[in-house]
Amino acid sequence: QSDKGMQPNLKEGVLALLENGKGQDISGSEMAERLHVSRNAIWKAIKQLKEEGYQIEAATNRGYCLHSDNNIVSAQGIYKYLTVDIPGIEVHKTTVSTNTILREKAEENSPEGTVVIAEEQTGGRGRMGRVFFSPAETGLYMSILLRPQLAVSEALNITTCAAVAVAEAIEMNTGIEAQIKWVNDIYCGNKKVCGILTEASFDMENMGINYAILGIGINVFQPRNAFPDEIRDVADALLNKEDNHEDFRNRLAAQVLNRFMKYYDNINDRKLLEEYKRRSLLLGREINILSKEGTQKATALDIDEQFRLKVLMQDGTTKFLSSGEVSV
Ligand code: BTN
Repeated sequence: QSDKGMQPNLKEGVLALLENGKGQDISGSEMAERLHVSRNAIWKAIKQLKEEGYQIEAATNRGYCLHSDNNIVSAQGIYKYLTVDIPGIEVHKTTVSTNTILREKAEENSPEGTVVIAEEQTGGRGRMGRVFFSPAETGLYMSILLRPQLAVSEALNITTCAAVAVAEAIEMNTGIEAQIKWVNDIYCGNKKVCGILTEASFDMENMGINYAILGIGINVFQPRNAFPDEIRDVADALLNKEDNHEDFRNRLAAQVLNRFMKYYDNINDRKLLEEYKRRSLLLGREINILSKEGTQKATALDIDEQFRLKVLMQDGTTKFLSSGEVSV
């Protein structure tokens, strides 16, 4: 085995061994033997991982050890917690938008379930043409490729599955109650901690969906320089950076995937609507319906089977909203 050009998955192999024995020493020769390469190749892979930010300690005669408080997002780190089948996870240090990368992969026939994650997005996209603030190492910016057998009219179900899955995963990992603000924002304590953007390619001839890119952005740690002015009053993060939450983002990513895939497999199940409604931030409350024409006050009454929001207007009429912006 030549050490000159490293075999493409050697770095992942070394990382997998270190991850599995996190906090413990593992010798270079043991890794070399298990991965069928030279010790020099192992050393090179370790060097690359360190350059990527992994805290790996090397001690003479003892070998290498991955710090247990390592907080880097990695495919291996996520696979450890996965209970569902995910064909591939790609983690980028920085990219414009994970949705854009995954769309290219979709066009190249990547399989359903392919995941792209970034530590930072320079052009993170939100709904309605907005920017999604995605600073380095503070969030979980993740896109999942789906090839659903759904009618165009059912595309919204993908987003609602994701909203319920994210809310459950947040609660499981933090103990903080997570609510869904129709249509698909996740709120903790009256502030937004996650946004979801599904972008789909439609097959107009058959009124079906070719593929959908489900993009999930979760504010995990408070950003170093605070949130930008425009969102400071509405946005929040789940944790403080100073807290040592070992492997938090890897676990959260895996749990979002575990839960999402479960709902996605039974996407037309009524249970989804019930869970969605149970977690609604809006039902029973006075809301503002925002539109180009201005703001109208209403009461949120219900969410129907097409995930439309039923509202009681001030003039006594009821309306069903199928998209748009509301605030509380
Ligand atoms: C919103 O709040 O309006 C939706 C935000 C969606 C953000 C996620 S982060 C991962 C994926 N890539 C993007 O560019 N956007 C989504």
